[in-house]
Order: sequence, then C-alpha cells, then structure tokens
Amino acid sequence: MRFFLPCLASVLLPVVHASPPDRDAATLYAHLCANCHGTDLQGNKASSLIDPTWRHARDDAGLARIIRQGDRKSGMPAFAAALNDAETRALVVFIRETAKRRIDPAVHQARALPSGVQASEHHAYRIEKVVDDLDVPWSLAFLPDGHLLFTQRTGGIFVARQQDGLWTTRPVAGAPPVWVRDEGGLFSVAVPPDYATNGWLYLTLSDPGPEDTGNTKLVRGRLRDGRWTDQETLLEAPRDSYTSLGVNFGSRVVFSDGYVFFSFGERGQVGQAQDLALPNGKIHRLLPDGGIPPDNPFVKTPGALPSVWSYGHRNPQGLAVHPKTGELWETEHGPRGGDELNYLRRGGNYGWPLVTHGMNYDGTPVSPLTEKKGLEPPVLHWTPSIAVSPIRFYTGDAFPRWKNHLFLGTLGQQELRRLEVKGDRVIHEELILKSLGRVRDMITGPDGCLYVALEIPGPDTPDYIVRLVPAP
Ligand code: HEC
Repeated sequence: MRFFLPCLASVLLPVVHASPPDRDAATLYAHLCANCHGTDLQGNKASSLIDPTWRHARDDAGLARIIRQGDRKSGMPAFAAALNDAETRALVVFIRETAKRRIDPAVHQARALPSGVQASEHHAYRIEKVVDDLDVPWSLAFLPDGHLLFTQRTGGIFVARQQDGLWTTRPVAGAPPVWVRDEGGLFSVAVPPDYATNGWLYLTLSDPGPEDTGNTKLVRGRLRDGRWTDQETLLEAPRDSYTSLGVNFGSRVVFSDGYVFFSFGERGQVGQAQDLALPNGKIHRLLPDGGIPPDNPFVKTPGALPSVWSYGHRNPQGLAVHPKTGELWETEHGPRGGDELNYLRRGGNYGWPLVTHGMNYDGTPVSPLTEKKGLEPPVLHWTPSIAVSPIRFYTGDAFPRWKNHLFLGTLGQQELRRLEVKGDRVIHEELILKSLGRVRDMITGPDGCLYVALEIPGPDTPDYIVRLVPAP
C-alpha cells in the first residue's frame, strides 16, 4: 500500500533526474573541464582545482556558482546551458572528493594499537585490548552486573567478563539466525533502563527472507542460563519488501523517556524513505512491548505506519540519546558525499533523497538541492564521505571533562571524534583516535572507561574491542 499525503504532495513527489549514465561527474569533468584544469584537476591552462587556496569558490555554493556563471574576466566559461543544477552539484562533490584524496590519501590499513600514554585536549589515556579475534564486532552493551554484551555482524551474541584481570568470552546459545550479506547480519544489542525488573534485551538484525533476501527487524528476548529465549518480534517489514540488496540496513536501538527508538535504513530503495506507509528509511518510536505510543506524530495520518517518528533517512547507523535531556541524535551514511549528523525532531522529514549533499556512487547526481524549506537540514555534513557510523554520549566519571559529550565513530576514515553539543548545535570537535580501525561502536563501561569496537580492514585481520583507560 502506498499513500501520499495531499498536504505534503509537493514534498513527497518522487524526484526524477534523468541524467543518462554517461553524464556522471567524472565523464562530465573529462569532457568539459579537463582541457583547462588538467586531467586529474592539478591544473593545466587554468588553475588547479585541488589547491586548497580558492580564488572564487570559497564554499560549495560558491563553487557551484562559478561553474554555472563562469568568470568572464579570468576566462572561466559559464556552464549553465550545458549542465543542469544536479550535474553541477555532482561536479562540486567530484572536485571535493579529488581534493580530499590528494591531501589525505584514503586509509586502507590500520596502525597497530599505540602503547603508552596518549594525549588529548582534556584527558590522557592508554588504550587496552579487551577482547581479541573477532569478526566485525557491531554493537556493545553492558549488563547491570558489569558483563559486556556484544554482537558480531556475521552472527552471534557474546558475553565478556573480567575476572582477576583476565577477560573471558562465551557465546550466547540460541542467537537468532541472520541474513549475512554485504552489510547485513546481526546488528545492535541494547539493555533498556528497566532491565533489572524484567530481563528484556533488544536486538536488531537482518532477518532472512524468502529466496535469499533479507530485511531489518527489531526483536526482544531474554538471557537465561546463557541462552537467548522468549524472543518476540517488535517491528518487521512486510515480507514482499524483503530484498536481495545487502545495503543500508540502519539498525540501532536506543531508549528514551520510556520509549524504544529504532533506526531502519532505506535498504537501497531510494524513494521509499519518503513513503510513510513503509518502515524503511525511518526512525520508529515504540512502547517497550512494540505497541504504538498514542502520541506518535503520524498515528492519525491515513495510510502512514503509526510507529514512524521521523523519515527521509538513508542509512541511519547511529542513534544516541542525550543523557540529560533525552533528546535524540542520529547519523546516517550519505551516498557518495553527504554523510550527516542530525538532531531528531518529532515528525521531521530529513530529506533523503529530495535533498542531499552527496551524489550517486556512479557519479550521477541525486538531487540538485542540498536544502529545502520544510526539510530538516543536518547539524553537520561531510563531503566527501567519512562513513559516519556509531554515536554515543559518554556518561562515566573516569573522564570527567568528557561527561555528556557525543562520541562519533567513522568506518572509512577510521576515526573516533569527540563532539560537544549544546541544544541542537555542535560547538566543538576533537579527533581522538585515527587509523586504528573502522569504529563500529563505543560505550561507557561501568568502570567509566570508553569501550570501542574496532574492525581492522583486510581479509584475515582479526577485529577487537579496546577500552580507553584514564592515565595520570
Ligand atoms: C576554457 C578553459 C576552462 C574550462 C573549459 C573550464 N574552466 Fe574553470 N576556470 C578557468 C579559468 C581561466 C579560471 C580562473 C582561475 C584561473 O585563473 O585559472 C577558472 C576557474 C574555475 C573555478 C574557480 C577556481 C577558484 O580558484 O576559485 C572553478 C571551481 C572552475 N573553474 C571549475 C570548472 C569546472 C567544473 C569546469 C568544467 C565544467 C571548468 N572549470 C571548465 C578556465 C576553464
């Protein structure tokens, strides 16, 4: 069932950009620009476009403007007649990507863990390995008894605990089967605040469907004698929407104010993030048992899924709750460029794919627009992509000057960043870890240490969980 709201029809109409595939950004650049600016943007007759010192184009809008309008005095032709706005935007992304690659070559390998005391703006720390020999640890959680729960993307829930200084890990029996394909598998495990009274744990996964397909799903269950039991499905997609595409599952689960929030990626079905009748490309808000809170924003909207809290999301792999205010923050992977950090508002439309700072992977444009009235703009966005993934607020006492700061992990750029937020803004940012591995999750431990799940790139490289321990 599809249902478009009449009052939002202008926003919801599918965008069609019929750019033929031979008009991707690299091809356009080669045909229209390379002659003057050099085949690899290093400059030829005209100036280099990877030089960070721009004469005309200070920001993205300025870049687009000079491409459209040219500059008669300096000899830069106007391309408004040859390129539509979306293609111009794609060229801007292409120029930014190429420049970034020059300045900061893509990281393919991770460095070994540094030993000794590491410095940062507020705190010195050491990095200790906690659990080794893993295969993409995806999510971390702590039980009230101090045991560390984690998932591996290829399946399996594990419990790790420290005894006499040594960490031991055992798998939980009876973990649900998952559809392991590309990005798909087992995702988040989360412990709700009232765990002690009822024992429920929440789990998100790519559920195996018919004929080698899968889709994102939210379940809860209990741990009893080392077994996963009592599983209940809380939110799943209609069977006929299961797809063989192994991308954009989203899939974090967090708790705020007695509600369960769950991020569901658009699954590569681009326009569906705007369709309120479908679960993909949405953040959902549920009661702890999967019921619908009566004050959800779309409960009275005919045809809309009543669980939807916000929509227009692409691949929301990060979801975090501010420990003081209960407000929600979200990260999502853009396509090529256009990664976002969002502040979530009730009923908000976050714009994918109507507006984006990115372009398609083949270099063809997604949208000419990076913003539009009525669509929520990101708080921060990154082009080229940093592959932004988990976010989590630090809540411990071991690093007092990090308290309530938002930690943000990236995959491609292998970074852990610390963000200070105020209201819906980011007021300061610091790079904490770089090139130690793809950051899949982080969490404050009962000891106040910051635990970080690292995926080490490479075919046979074991992945691990580390913790940042305060150092004098
Ligand atoms: C006929 C030669 C020519 C062609 C073709 C051309 N440019 Fe230019 N472009 C120039 C010149 C000349 C300038 C002025 C800068 C300079 O002094 O070299 C310029 C400036 C620019 C600037 C501003 C640089 C700055 O420092 O602010 C951008 C961005 C740019 N061009 C992008 C493009 C793109 C994208 C294309 C292809 C769609 C393109 N140009 C095609 C000659 C050309």
